[in-house]
Amino acid sequence: MIRRPLIAIVAFPFLISSAWSQAATRIRDAADAIGLNFGLATSANQVRDTTSTYAVDAKTQYNFAVCENDMKFDNTEGPIGTFKYTGGDGLSAFCVANKMKMRGHNFIWHSQSNTASGAVHDRTSGLTVMRNHITAVGGHFKDKILEWDVLNETQSAGTSSFWYKGIGADYTDSALAIARSVIGTSGYLYSNDYGADGVNSKSTAILTQAKKWQSSKVPIDGIGFQCHLGHGINKADISANIKRFGDIGLRVSLTEIDITQATTADWTALVGACVENWNCTSFVTWGLTDASSWIGSTCGCLLYNGNPPTPKNDMISAVLAALAAADPAVAAKRKAFIAIPPGSLGPNIDQVLQRPLAHRSAEVLFGASSVRIFSTPNGNAIDALGRNRALIPVSSNLPGLGILPQ
Ligand code: XIL
Repeated sequence: MIRRPLIAIVAFPFLISSAWSQAATRIRDAADAIGLNFGLATSANQVRDTTSTYAVDAKTQYNFAVCENDMKFDNTEGPIGTFKYTGGDGLSAFCVANKMKMRGHNFIWHSQSNTASGAVHDRTSGLTVMRNHITAVGGHFKDKILEWDVLNETQSAGTSSFWYKGIGADYTDSALAIARSVIGTSGYLYSNDYGADGVNSKSTAILTQAKKWQSSKVPIDGIGFQCHLGHGINKADISANIKRFGDIGLRVSLTEIDITQATTADWTALVGACVENWNCTSFVTWGLTDASSWIGSTCGCLLYNGNPPTPKNDMISAVLAALAAADPAVAAKRKAFIAIPPGSLGPNIDQVLQRPLAHRSAEVLFGASSVRIFSTPNGNAIDALGRNRALIPVSSNLPGLGILPQ
């Protein structure tokens, strides 16, 4: 009777400190615990000095990274046919050293792609430029990248993109098919866009497009929502949007997050919207510190400010708390979901989870019976993967008409 209160007095402070030591103090540990990639956009240059405050913050808090610019078309191919990978290789080395996974951003975009736009004149040249770029850059990085933005802002650009004008409306299908053929099942293929973060007409159009891709067997694994947002995050709206893509078996990544003049409540809401959905696999801030944000150094939009970066401890604590509050059952389902290899995702999640090894390859997609052929002005044909296919003419008077050799 006398000893019990004594034990309680001695043990109580110890138990408190033990409980605290179990709660993650680094964002990346809290994210790992629930199967979430928590990333930042950065560059090899910014992390070159691995002892800098910036690099230490990046590797301490994040388990995921993306090149903010270095893997874009102009930064990897210029002039056409000449490739350089130094920026991506540099960040990849940092990520490997610090056990961080990577996104690849991006293959096909209307912006920062001047070398491409100068070389795309028509369908044939467009498919050739597309195919050569994805083959080279995708081939170089494929073992290093978990999620690829094969398409960037294509829903936003609509018919105004030079890719659309050169190749036609199905250029997005071709990019995804080429990417699958190059990358195989080493990376998840994404379409990434802005202004579609909640339920609205743009995200509904993306959902319709995604269903079309699925029904026509164009390979798509995930949708990226950029999340360039402002104060006043609507958690329910963003969560409902993520969920409806999960309903058709797709991953969702929040890919370029900045929340202008964010409060702690905004970070709590956005992290919450992601973690309450098993198909929300990745949460990426578009930069480490406001000081180097593309929005401007006074944006109040990231988790650090200044350079060297100073942590915004209240925002970071809000993120940690929201990650720690995640429902363990949802986290368990996310962990099962992310174990499904790329190329396996389909319209019905229950079926998806039951057929984890059913890969789709480009050869299957565009095998003998389903090769889609486009004729070119010189009478040759080019398939959906951009390959030249010589036709056997059916009549010497009709050079554009023919059948494919088997
Ligand atoms: C931005 C970069 O942050 C800037 O440094 C660059 O000058 C322009 O591009 N949508 C995207 C990103 O998909 O690639 C853009 O990144 C921001 C908008």
